This record gives sequence, structure tokens and C-alpha cells, in this order.
Amino acid sequence: MLAMASTGCHHLVLVLALSQMFLPFFLSVGADPVTVPDLSQCQLATDRPAAGPNAQNTYRFNCCIPIVPDHKVVRFSLDAYKSPKTRVRHPAHRVSEEYIAKYNKAYALMRALPDTDPRSFKVQADLHCAFCNGAYWQGGAAGNTPLQVHFSWLFLPWHRMYLYFHERILASLIGDPSFALVYWNWDDQRDGGNVLPPMFARNSTAVFDANRSASALSGSTLIRLSPASNTTNMTLVALENLNAMYQAVVTARTPDLFLGGPYVLGSDLTNSTVISAPLGGSIENTIHNGIHYWTGNRNSILGEDMGTFTSAARDPVFYSHHSNVDRLWDVWRSHLPDGERPDFNVTDFLDAEFAFFDEYANMVKIKVRDVLDISKLGYKYKRVSSDKLWIRFSPVPVSNGSALPAAVASGVPFVGPSPLNGTIELGKKLVARVQRPSALGVKRPDHSEEVLTIEGMDVMRDSFVQLVVFVNLPGATNTTLTNSAEYVGTFNVVASASQHRRLMTNLKFEMGDNLKRVGIKKDDEVVITIVVKGTERVTIQGLRIGYEV
Ligand code: C2O
Repeated sequence: MLAMASTGCHHLVLVLALSQMFLPFFLSVGADPVTVPDLSQCQLATDRPAAGPNAQNTYRFNCCIPIVPDHKVVRFSLDAYKSPKTRVRHPAHRVSEEYIAKYNKAYALMRALPDTDPRSFKVQADLHCAFCNGAYWQGGAAGNTPLQVHFSWLFLPWHRMYLYFHERILASLIGDPSFALVYWNWDDQRDGGNVLPPMFARNSTAVFDANRSASALSGSTLIRLSPASNTTNMTLVALENLNAMYQAVVTARTPDLFLGGPYVLGSDLTNSTVISAPLGGSIENTIHNGIHYWTGNRNSILGEDMGTFTSAARDPVFYSHHSNVDRLWDVWRSHLPDGERPDFNVTDFLDAEFAFFDEYANMVKIKVRDVLDISKLGYKYKRVSSDKLWIRFSPVPVSNGSALPAAVASGVPFVGPSPLNGTIELGKKLVARVQRPSALGVKRPDHSEEVLTIEGMDVMRDSFVQLVVFVNLPGATNTTLTNSAEYVGTFNVVASASQHRRLMTNLKFEMGDNLKRVGIKKDDEVVITIVVKGTERVTIQGLRIGYEV
């Protein structure tokens, strides 16, 4: 990129072309993968209420992992952890009474373990708090940068490992090696999966949690996967949900879009620049965060339990929620009609290493490369036919031809990539024209996606914020239905920690499929609408459209 200053036009185009295609890989050059932190260096995790009279208070939690003197540290190997039988994870709303009884027994036993036991429910929940709310610094040379396992490519693998050991502990507590977690099939819009699973709604069982929202506790309120339009028409909610799934899983073809961006030693989400900011993946940003918010009790100070990361894993439904997120990674990778999709193949990703506790309370060090194939890990997901509803969803456009000429005529501003002169305040809504790479003469590489990047989004995570993005729909507002082909995606910001609550990140959305469905082929610019919901100030540093493979 330094070449830009000294070269002519031809070179400039080339440099732009490269940076538009390969930006995520440039970012990881010269860094090292994250390593297991020094677990003896633990701080209190911090959290802060979303709003209300306590909004200025900081709450501190001791989520530190008990250091058992002389505990064994083992290195994970597929051989040592082979399971005698494949564990099959079923949808939570379809398991038998017998299975529910077994499930509750396992959690009751886990809850009965003393807090000093790393297998106890307390420590299991604290593991999540510790790595999400700044209890540990990154290992190695990355001194005092907090380790954060959300908002990047670490999200899916870290949570897979977490569930894997959690499941093994439950299985060993009831002496049943075939025991498997259930998954909360919230994406199912046909067979009853899109409410809080009834097995978790039964008062005073081991998997019940009273600290949930009224919607979750009702047991019959439909989940809104992209809680955008506020429509009360349940047929439309189901269509919005299917489109949310379609946009977050089916059209998010590249690993960067689906898993999220690079996070390496030294990555600091709370103090990053536009050049170093990673990003969360599509399923994390949209649906995963939305369900945390939907499930937590909004009358409790921090949105506990599910609504904030310090307490989310105190609700047993957390593990079932993440089981579905994990399942969708498997569906994305291996079970979509267009064939196998690649995970990242760089050592910064593959060699990122974390520590968990196994069923013997040994500490296990495990790398991302160990968990990419679930069949090797010895578990699988029961397939459900309702997946087809979103896999084959075909959103219909609501706009009538290109909105560009009218946008130009009415003075809709052009917004380019960063660095701009300063930042752009999003306000409640931003409508902008953004240049497409074809206008710069960039040839579209084979199998590439046309991707919109919202560069350098900067927000304080003091309360829930939502960014909803549309193409070719300048009139979109915060009540526009999200079931159309113009709906590109949503970024949900979950409120969080005081000390590390600033989030600066690049957001990416696949939009080529949208443009095709809307019928926009040759336009050099696209009209982008970003609708902001919530009360926080959100700024961005630029908008860019590029090709990514
Ligand atoms: Cu670690 Cu669903 O969050």
C-alpha cells in the first residue's frame, strides 16, 4: 500500500485490487497465534449494566479458574480422547422424557460438585466469563492485552472446545459415554424449535434458570433471529428468520465472512485501529448475539443470565444455544448444496491454543486445528429437514429497479473507504452511495464474493445496539421488514464490560447475492442504507465494496 504514493494510475488500481481481495490475510502476517495465557495472572472480570439507575456502576466478578496445585496438564490428542461411541446431539425440542431426565441428572450432579472442582457448574460458567470479560491477559509477549474469544475467528473453535469438554464432564458424571448435549434448534421455523425448548422451561429442574426474559420464560413466544422490524405478523417473523439464516449461513461463503476475521497475539479489540480490527463472523454477529439478548432477563441489572457474557453460561440453555451455533458451522462447512467450504488454512488460526478441563479435572491444551472436523472428535448432529427452509430460501426484492439515479439526483452522499477526513456519525440512519470494484477496473476473481465492509465501526458497548444493512433501499427505516432480497444483514452489539467495553471493528456482509436478486448488474455504485437501533453513538471510518475469495 505504500506504493500508492509513488506510482501512477495503473499501479494504484493493482494495489487496490490486491487489498480488496486479500486484506484479511495481510493482517495476520508477522504475528503469532494466541497461546494459553498465564492462568496465575487473573484479574477480576468487569461488567456494566446496559441502562437504568446503575448504568454508571462497574461490577466486578471473580471468574478466575481455580488453580489446583499439581494438576496435570495434558496436550490434547484425538487418540487419547477417542470416544467409544459417536455422541449424537439431538434437537432439544424433540428428545424423549427419558433423555430429559438423564440430562437433568447430569446437570444436577455437575451443580453438586464443590466450587473448587474445575468440573463444577460454577467453574464451567466462570470459564466463559473469564475469557470474555478480561480476566486473563494474552500469553507470550502480548503483555497486558486482554484475551477475548468473541468478535473474531476464535469464536467458533473456542466455543466448540468448551462444549466438547463440558459434554465429556456431564457424560462421565452419569457414567454414560454416549451422552450428548442437545441443540436449541432456533432456526427451525416449522417444527417448533423457535421457542425456548420446553425441557429448559420446567420450573425447579436442574436445567431451569429463572433469570430469563418474559419471552423466554413464556415458552411460547417466537424467537426473532433478526429482531429488526417489530412486525407482529408471525408469518412475516418466520420469513424474516429464514432470511436471517439465509444471509448469515448460505451466502456467507468465505471463512472471513462466516467465522470472522484474524485475531492473533496482540490483537486488541478495545484499542484497535481500522487496520488491525478483526471482525465477528456472520452467525456470531447476527443471530448468536440476538439470542443472548432475547433470552436474558432485561429487568436484571446486567441482563443476566444469558444477556451478558459474564453470566451467560450460568444458564444451562447456553450450552444448548452454542450447540446449535456449532452445528451450523458444521452445516456451513459440509452440508450445503454448493459443497465443502474451507475453514482458514493459516497457522495463526490453526495453532491458536487454549486450555480447558477434562472429565478427570486435568487441564488440557488444545489447538484450533484439533477441532475442525467433528467426526474426528466423535460427535455428530442429528440432521433436521427444517434446515431446508432456510437453505433454499429465496428472498424477493421489494425495490423497483436501481435506486442509484434517484439517489444521485437527490444528493445522497458518496462514502468511500477509510481513511476519510474523520469519522462518520451514523445517527439513526445513514444512506450512502458506495463504489463497486468493477468501477475501478478490478476484475472479479473466480468464486469470489462481492462484500461490503463497514470499516472501523466504533461503539461503546453500554447497551444493546443494532445495525441493520440494506442495499438499494434508501427508504428503509427501523421498521422495514427484513425478509426481502434488499436485506443484507444485521450486527447486534451485546452490552458489556466497563473496562474493555469499547468495540472497534470492521463489519463485513456478502451482498453479491442481494444485488443479483434485486437485478443490479452494471451499476458502478450501490446505494447502502444502515439503520441504527439503540441509543449509543456509533461512528464508522468508511465503506468499501470489494471481492473476496
Ligand atoms: Cu461466548 Cu454465546 O457467547
